[in-house]
Amino acid sequence: MQAGGIGPCNRRLGTLTPEVPLVSDITLPRFPPPSAGREVLPAREYAALMRQNVLAAFSERAFTEEVLERRLFGRVQLTLNRPAAIRHVLIDNAENYARSSATRRLLYPIAGRGLLLAEGEEWRVQRRTVAPSFAPRTVPMVAHHVAAVAGELAETLAAEEGEVDLAEHMQLLAIEIAGRAMFSLKMEPFAPRMRALLQDYGERLAQPSPFEILLPAWIPTPGDVARWRFRRRWLALIGAIIDARQAKGAAGFGRDLLDLMASDPETGKPVSRRKLVDQVATMIAAGHATTAVALFWAFYLLAETPAVQERIAAEAGPLDLAPEGAAEALPHLVYTRAVVQEALRLYPPAYGIFRLARRADEAGGVAVPKGAIVMIAPWLLHRHKTLWTEPDAFDPGRFLPGAPPPDRFAYLPFGMGPRVCVGAQFALTEAVLVLARLVRQFVISRADNRPVVPVAAITVRPDHPPPFRLRPR
Ligand code: HEM
Repeated sequence: MQAGGIGPCNRRLGTLTPEVPLVSDITLPRFPPPSAGREVLPAREYAALMRQNVLAAFSERAFTEEVLERRLFGRVQLTLNRPAAIRHVLIDNAENYARSSATRRLLYPIAGRGLLLAEGEEWRVQRRTVAPSFAPRTVPMVAHHVAAVAGELAETLAAEEGEVDLAEHMQLLAIEIAGRAMFSLKMEPFAPRMRALLQDYGERLAQPSPFEILLPAWIPTPGDVARWRFRRRWLALIGAIIDARQAKGAAGFGRDLLDLMASDPETGKPVSRRKLVDQVATMIAAGHATTAVALFWAFYLLAETPAVQERIAAEAGPLDLAPEGAAEALPHLVYTRAVVQEALRLYPPAYGIFRLARRADEAGGVAVPKGAIVMIAPWLLHRHKTLWTEPDAFDPGRFLPGAPPPDRFAYLPFGMGPRVCVGAQFALTEAVLVLARLVRQFVISRADNRPVVPVAAITVRPDHPPPFRLRPR
């Protein structure tokens, strides 16, 4: 289907690979139910729900309409599900759309003025600086580290008895991979503290009030005081990580991301400590939190679909998934990659991409007033009824070679345009290899049947860590 058109795409593929059923029997309920079947929520109720879980505030219409407009205390909020409008905002006129106030307010304590929040020339310089560390030629290095850490986790899990907290394991694994691949550093001494800090931030401070969404980010709110306190503790931890790494130097694969970020690419002079801390904080937080939840949701889906696990195990079985062989195995993990892509569709870790219109504009036929908050939400797009066939069904076959590709703007787990995720290949390499390694060794099932509710708190995370059981295959 062409970008710009709208219509159901990506039909199920019953015929491509007859030996294993492609389609799971489960059609996942959309937790939480969008506004209990109501078409539109009154503004006050909407605002209250947003504080608890923005995913619960989406109405039925958000999954069927192309454009939704609402006024929240006088400010226009636009939700765009129309491919042409999304293309305009993220690509054609991207300069007109800045990071929103709420994004700045929520992410500044973690990312400071690093790549995620930088704008204009500062952003261009930072993006150019880190880009070489994420070029395709770095995939073998990333694969090596992923395979090593996944192998260590497999050994730990083999020795663990009883119920397993895969949410926690995935967070610690993703921190370890980010630390080793980007900063040549073992993260065991820092990972539990990092996890605890970010967990606390997600639970207490990551749901903005309506005023925190509407007010410019430079006007402080009571919530910001607690966020500043968090930032002090967070920066101290990142500082300790940088000190540990600088005392040791890069090893193994030569200059790493920290070396690149530590000097100005134009002058070669060292960047200030403050700048370096923000850049390291950004890369390590953005580089693990999203991938960890992506892996969690993939395991959650797999636990419900033993046939899909079987097929991953069959694909991974003959491959060398040890550090030396992992990069070569990667292109052969076609089905496993499709599972990752489908998990990213149903549970996109970045549920929304938010922008603030600097000037009035027209985006794909939609009038955008100056100051409007524009939301492009993978959470909605990926389950939109006019863009997908059976949008709530888990069907990795949608992403197998030969399947009709999804509309370019219906599937945006990593965003699009100049600010597209710089770590997308890194994340896919990690998710595919970890899934292959663990599913090859274990049959994974849930240890209880309590519903798991996705909650939006910067990323889409589970409302509680459900227990899993792992049985040797
Ligand atoms: C499954 C995992 C991941 C998902 C779903 C994800 C998603 C995203 C999305 C949607 C954006 C665009 C935000 C926007 O346009 O406003 C983004 C940007 C970004 N991501 Fe990721 N990401 C993932 C993994 C990673 C990894 C592994 C890294 C680093 C190693 C990373 C670093 C970044 C950075 C630095 C940006 C900002 C880029 C810029 O503004 O130029 N991400 N990510």
